[in-house]
Amino acid sequence: MTTTNSKWLDTEMRFDSGVYNKHQVVMVRAQGATVWDETGRSYIDCVAGYGVANIGHSHPDVVRAIKDQAERLIVMPQTLPNDKRAEFLQELAGVLPTGLDRIFLCNSGTEAVEAAKKFAITATGRKKFISMKRGFAGRSLGALAFTWEPKYREPFGDAVDNKNVSFVTYGNVEELRAAVTDEIAAVIIEPVQGEGGVRPASLEFIQAARKFTQEHGALLIMDEIQTGFCRTGKMFATEHFGITPDGMTLAKAMAGGVPVGAFAMTAAVADKMPAGGHGTTFGGNPLAMAAGVAAIRAMKRENMAEQAREKGQYFMEQLRAIDSSKVREVRGLGLMIGMELKEKSAPYIAALEHDESVLTLAATPLVIRFLPPVTISKEQIDQVVASVAKVLKTVNPREVPAAEVKESKQTE
Ligand SMILES: Cc1ncc(COP(=O)(O)O)c(C=O)c1O
Repeated sequence: MTTTNSKWLDTEMRFDSGVYNKHQVVMVRAQGATVWDETGRSYIDCVAGYGVANIGHSHPDVVRAIKDQAERLIVMPQTLPNDKRAEFLQELAGVLPTGLDRIFLCNSGTEAVEAAKKFAITATGRKKFISMKRGFAGRSLGALAFTWEPKYREPFGDAVDNKNVSFVTYGNVEELRAAVTDEIAAVIIEPVQGEGGVRPASLEFIQAARKFTQEHGALLIMDEIQTGFCRTGKMFATEHFGITPDGMTLAKAMAGGVPVGAFAMTAAVADKMPAGGHGTTFGGNPLAMAAGVAAIRAMKRENMAEQAREKGQYFMEQLRAIDSSKVREVRGLGLMIGMELKEKSAPYIAALEHDESVLTLAATPLVIRFLPPVTISKEQIDQVVASVAKVLKTVNPREVPAAEVKESKQTE
């Protein structure tokens, strides 16, 4: 083991499973859109825990809710009803599209996708699914079957059930029309592909997906794990498309940073699952529920969807104004933003962290992805944009040490 100047980094590297390309830094504190490392250096955070800290790190309402709840009740399984869980379910149902008022609670995005898959099978009596090329749905074996990128699936061979999944080109209405048949249980779509390069879907494509699934008795499931909870300028990105799906997978930002996941669905879908047909120990635990109630109320009270819309527009305008021949396109929705380069983004992401104290992440090898907390200030956005302009001008990819490039490659 090579040692660093940090005992914490050495210790984490020593005992970790090794699946992450770890940055050479130890983060110890965060507030709003600022993160501090153990040396006291501050960073502007455009990663937000992979799109989790939408309402800002350590939002005071969430901190208070966690403290109060921890003193009262932390764990209670879902067979034993709980006041905070009931409050959270009501709060969540209140912001979901009308009709999606039956909710399975779990602990992460990939578990929400697993739940969606099982509920879709019992609701339709079918086992075949359609997912999207470049789509990302998680890394457990069931969700992995919906994840496009072969590097995530191939090491596990036929343990990933891909024979029941077909992948359609994101945005291709005719391909989708041909793929949706009476054998399909569900079509699963991210309203904006995150890992796949920050690509918003077209109105036409999502509306066609709604129409074709309805015509063939299949479910339409919107994967709002990354796009949900104000990230794109609406509470849910699906609202941009004027449709109501049969189900939505939710996680990441739902509880202000505390691990949580959910599959929200119609009564028609929920009612077909027998009692005992699915379950989880930690799902719906009172601590996460209390954090979730505080987080959703803060999103509404502080008009975070509107903030994301306005700040996202400003951020994208400023990024587009950067005069650099290395940039192919800046695209996104709200504060889910991607800058696609004509070359690999990793050296620029590494330079942003090391030289500019700005944290960003990749989305495909060419894209720099920005997922800041919605509470990011205009001054911080200006600083990020200036830093991006600077690294685009100064970084020569051939001069960046390979280790630095490798560490910036890890995506969600
Ligand atoms: C669209 C989408 N679906 C599913 C997942 C998986 O969520 P988790 O990492 O919480 O398992 C992610 C994670 O990034 C995601 O972005």
